[in-house]
Amino acid sequence: MIGKLIKITLAALVLFFASDTLAGNNMDPAPADWPSFDYKREPGQFKRRQNGMIDPTPDVVSLKFLPKDNYGFVDWTKSIRDGLIKPRDSILDSQGPPPETSEPAPDVVIKSKLDFMPDVLFPHSAHTVWLKCSVCHPKIFKKKAGATPITMTGIWKGQFCGRCHDRVAFPTRNCFKCHSVPRQTTEKSTAP
Ligand code: HEC
Ligand code: HEC
Ligand code: HEC
Repeated sequence: MIGKLIKITLAALVLFFASDTLAGNNMDPAPADWPSFDYKREPGQFKRRQNGMIDPTPDVVSLKFLPKDNYGFVDWTKSIRDGLIKPRDSILDSQGPPPETSEPAPDVVIKSKLDFMPDVLFPHSAHTVWLKCSVCHPKIFKKKAGATPITMTGIWKGQFCGRCHDRVAFPTRNCFKCHSVPRQTTEKSTAP
């Protein structure tokens, strides 16, 4: 008798989920995208459905809900600024955040060597939210504006900015996300 009840319950459950799937619902591999998902909750809090029930699906935000840049790639900097994601400092809580540095890291304008390309703005803050200083200094970049002989060919070969861009950060074909500072036209304009 009880065995039969269990079987019927199981069958009902299977049917319930199958009908959802057949109807095309919840087909997303990241089921946290259900409309009731509360993106603004603090890390560590449970997701809850509209009816208050805890949603046990994995705690992930599907990429399709994150803002995109003009090339359609996820805009990670905006995602953090808008509070949609909040990356942890380490996988193990016991490790804690990396040591703070009080040294300022100003944005750097890297002058373009060629006339037709706008200058490059290197925003420190967009990087230091993910990376500690020693990831880049002193091995990849000197800690002095203009001191590193960065070239585009080098970047395409995986040096300088290309250590990460085209690999784990937005791709270099999005030229103007880096070359974002219009050049001062007075410069060089008198050259023969
Ligand atoms: C990840 C950031 C980044 C992206 C994306 C990027 N560049 Fe650059 N680019 C630089 C930096 C930094 C320099 C070195 C400073 C300079 O000369 O402008 C540079 C230099 C250049 C130069 C000057 C000549 C040279 O070889 O150094 C040209 C031309 C250039 N880039 C073209 C492009 C084009 C075209 C694209 C897109 C297909 C592009 N860049 C995408 C960062 C970037
Ligand atoms: C993703 C790589 C990266 C990280 C991480 C990084 N920097 Fe930089 N930093 C650069 C680049 C690129 C330059 C410009 C180098 C050049 O022009 O030759 C620079 C230049 C600097 C300069 C010189 C600025 C000037 O106007 O002369 C200082 C100071 C600096 N960084 C401090 C820091 C500190 C402090 C941290 C950590 C909080 C940090 N950086 C993290 C890439 C990085
Ligand atoms: C050690 C890895 C690393 C290096 C080296 C690096 N970047 Fe980045 N960069 C990132 C990451 C990670 C992000 C955030 C993810 C993304 O936007 O794809 C980022 C984001 C950016 C952004 C987007 C900022 C915004 O507001 O959206 C710009 C612009 C940028 N990098 C320029 C540069 C330039 C120019 C260089 C070289 C001078 C450089 N990066 C070198 C890892 C790196």
